[in-house]
Amino acid sequence: MKKVAILIPASPNPAFFSQIAASALALSRLNWRCWEPTVYAFLGGEPDFDALEAWRPYLRDTMMSFVPASLSNAHRFYYAQIDSLFRCAPIDADVLIRMDADTLVVRNFEDLLDFVVDTNSVAGVTAHFPFPTWPGVTPRQSWMGLSYLLTGRSIGFEHAYSLPPTDSSQDAWTTPFYMNDGVVVFAGSVFADVVAHYLRLRPNLMDRLPDPYFSGQIALALAIAQAGVRSCALPMRYNFPNDELAEARYPEELDDVCIFHYLRTHAFDRHKIFASASAYHEFLELPLTGSNKVFQSCVATLIGSEYPFTVTDAAPVARPKMASVPSKPAIPRQPPGPQRDMPADELSAALAESEHADLLRELVNISRTAFGFFVDQFTCTINYPWVAARLENLGAGSRVLDVGAGVSPMPLWLAGRGVLVDTVDNHPIRRTLPPAENWNAWGFLDYQQLHPNVASHHCAIAEFSPVSRFDAVYSICVLTHMPRATREDTLRRCHGWLRSGGRLLLTIDLIPATDFLWNRSEGREVEPLLAHGTIDEFLCQLTCVGFQLNEARVLRTPRRSRTGLLLIDCTAT
Ligand SMILES: C[S@@+](CC[C@H](N)C(=O)[O-])C[C@H]1O[C@@H](n2cnc3c(N)ncnc32)[C@H](O)[C@@H]1O
Repeated sequence: MKKVAILIPASPNPAFFSQIAASALALSRLNWRCWEPTVYAFLGGEPDFDALEAWRPYLRDTMMSFVPASLSNAHRFYYAQIDSLFRCAPIDADVLIRMDADTLVVRNFEDLLDFVVDTNSVAGVTAHFPFPTWPGVTPRQSWMGLSYLLTGRSIGFEHAYSLPPTDSSQDAWTTPFYMNDGVVVFAGSVFADVVAHYLRLRPNLMDRLPDPYFSGQIALALAIAQAGVRSCALPMRYNFPNDELAEARYPEELDDVCIFHYLRTHAFDRHKIFASASAYHEFLELPLTGSNKVFQSCVATLIGSEYPFTVTDAAPVARPKMASVPSKPAIPRQPPGPQRDMPADELSAALAESEHADLLRELVNISRTAFGFFVDQFTCTINYPWVAARLENLGAGSRVLDVGAGVSPMPLWLAGRGVLVDTVDNHPIRRTLPPAENWNAWGFLDYQQLHPNVASHHCAIAEFSPVSRFDAVYSICVLTHMPRATREDTLRRCHGWLRSGGRLLLTIDLIPATDFLWNRSEGREVEPLLAHGTIDEFLCQLTCVGFQLNEARVLRTPRRSRTGLLLIDCTAT
């Protein structure tokens, strides 16, 4: 069995003992096949010995380290126990997870542990918001200043905070790889290197921040950058807060939560719910909503309707049993309705921000004229003109393929410029003219009825055989709806269908604020997240089948969008 060490900083009092006991119990009830978890608690401050005696029966399998009092006195904001978990972690673990006491693992995640080992990476969910900065200093300036001052080098801004306001600009919400430290997963191979940097950086940050409480998260980000280790921004399911913003922004992630972070205290007191039978039952009966409700139901399923601890009784009553995962979906949602036309204010905002406003305006007009709407999806105001700008110079008579055309203005825009377009789509719904109220971007449309330069094929891309080679192939928001094997096969076919030097343009949906490809199609999971793949894996697939990458742009949290966006421009070699 491979070893995963779960490192929890805590204070030695009943609240923390109860949370760690609940965590350990939940872990013992998951079906571990290849991994053996061990909980390590690092306890700082004066111990409550009576509480320790009462909780000891439920912490028998927990490694407990008491941090020296001198350290606790010397370090504010609980950094004596937090730094100690890094300093005194076991050296033989394959994976180490720094985990807050107010987290609860509710689903097995061995595939993630394997992924972290295989990629030698540090993985976590990016922080929700920027840390507080000095007056007049932006978060970006603050990052740059701290990085130069403490590491002597610049720092990249490739990631995105995970809970930006819907109308935030892309630039204001970019960040280095800065994780919410409720759950941070380290491959054993990189842990010592990152920790050496962290332990030097963290104390030096204290006097340089308006709120030194954030020194740990920031030091970890700087340490990961300085160590140069691989990072991976995970979806919210691996550190899901009981937070209304998170549940509104990431409803799909809430369906698949692996680890809850029950840090918000407005609905219940995290220090009490596992600390006594009465508080536990009171919690299970609370009329909760959203993520709190899902958390409550996971606790009931995993830990049980009976309080599992007898803290006044010496004999432990908690007996591990295997638990099934919660049923889905977590929160009932409206099925997707008919497509609305993009409202005027949204379109004005998109035009104001667009790098290709003229092209966007043209595409909107074509779409409204042909279909009666321009799809109300902010990413389409980015990806349609982005592709159009790269095909603008194709001469009349050039040949282009649209993979998964759906209902889109792109084939008509190209056809209007004299380009000969083939469209392929296998959707079971056939869109017959005239356009109806219930149309959206999905479906098979025979574009030839609208322009003679387009030939439309109602089949899966694997069944398509072109009559001659193409000058360019593009595919907008399609490849992530295919399982990985179909996607790889499609890329291989596209390479074979392009003339040498032909362009492949792809726009790919991402799970926002992460490195992962969107793995749902029309509300259903295409395949498990880790099987579906990451941005890096996708780029590798492209080069493996013979494409040369010209540009790969990642927009992790485009405004007003459910998904992130990866824009790829490559050439067939
Ligand atoms: C999200 S829609 C995008 C439509 C269009 N490209 C756009 O951006 O407006 C995805 C389309 O891809 C099509 N599609 C998915 N897998 C496909 C496959 N294997 N072969 C052909 N079409 C496929 C679907 O039927 C659907 O119409």
